[in-house]
Amino acid sequence: MRTFDSARESVQNIYKLMIGAIVPRPIAFVSSLDERGVRNLAPFSYFTAVSADPPVVLFCPSVRRDDPQRGLVAHKDTLLNVIATREFVINVVTEAIVERMNLTSAQVPPEVDEFELAGLTPLPSELVKPPRVAESPVQMECRLRQIIEVSDRPAGGSIVLGEVLRFHVREDLVENFRIDPEKLAAIGRMGGPTYVRTHDRFDLKRPE
Ligand SMILES: Cc1cc2nc3c(=O)[nH]c(=O)nc-3n(C[C@H](O)[C@H](O)[C@H](O)COP(=O)(O)O)c2cc1C
Repeated sequence: MRTFDSARESVQNIYKLMIGAIVPRPIAFVSSLDERGVRNLAPFSYFTAVSADPPVVLFCPSVRRDDPQRGLVAHKDTLLNVIATREFVINVVTEAIVERMNLTSAQVPPEVDEFELAGLTPLPSELVKPPRVAESPVQMECRLRQIIEVSDRPAGGSIVLGEVLRFHVREDLVENFRIDPEKLAAIGRMGGPTYVRTHDRFDLKRPE
């Protein structure tokens, strides 16, 4: 075994260990609005479910180092929008939209509409103001429940907990509340620029 002590390694190397070991990660494609109504979209692979009653999910925006020379840090637009408006939508990322998702991960000024940037279609939500991504087959309308700041250092971050008020699932994907993984064709994130498809699966029965 090789052992790495977090206290002795650089943040970059620790980050590489984390994104290489914690795999595959699902991707929350988060739509939000700023106070003026400008649409924002960004992918977050620090993403999971927390509770089904009530239905709560989380994603984690990291602290961005804006200028390595001066060491300025900044919050991502998604976090600022969620703090300001307390609403967001999580859209599931599939093979069909992975390239367009990737376009929205570029660092662009807050006034840029990232639906337009990526060529994705905003679909009005029913209970929250941020639009859904029409091209995503599963969309979750969320109301902010809590933000936990874990670290304010660059590459540190916060946990955003959202209650899912409404799920939208494309008609042909769902039967009796079961989502067909083959039709969904979700993708996951590995380390670096690597992704996985979800076509290679196996079943395992739980012990009695
Ligand atoms: C697949 C993928 C997953 C990502 N996951 C995260 C994440 O979990 N946390 C994070 O802070 N940034 C993550 N990023 C980077 C953000 O998407 C990127 O910083 C984006 O510009 C943030 O946009 P915003 O400033 O509009 O919120 C990821 C990027 C990609 C392509």
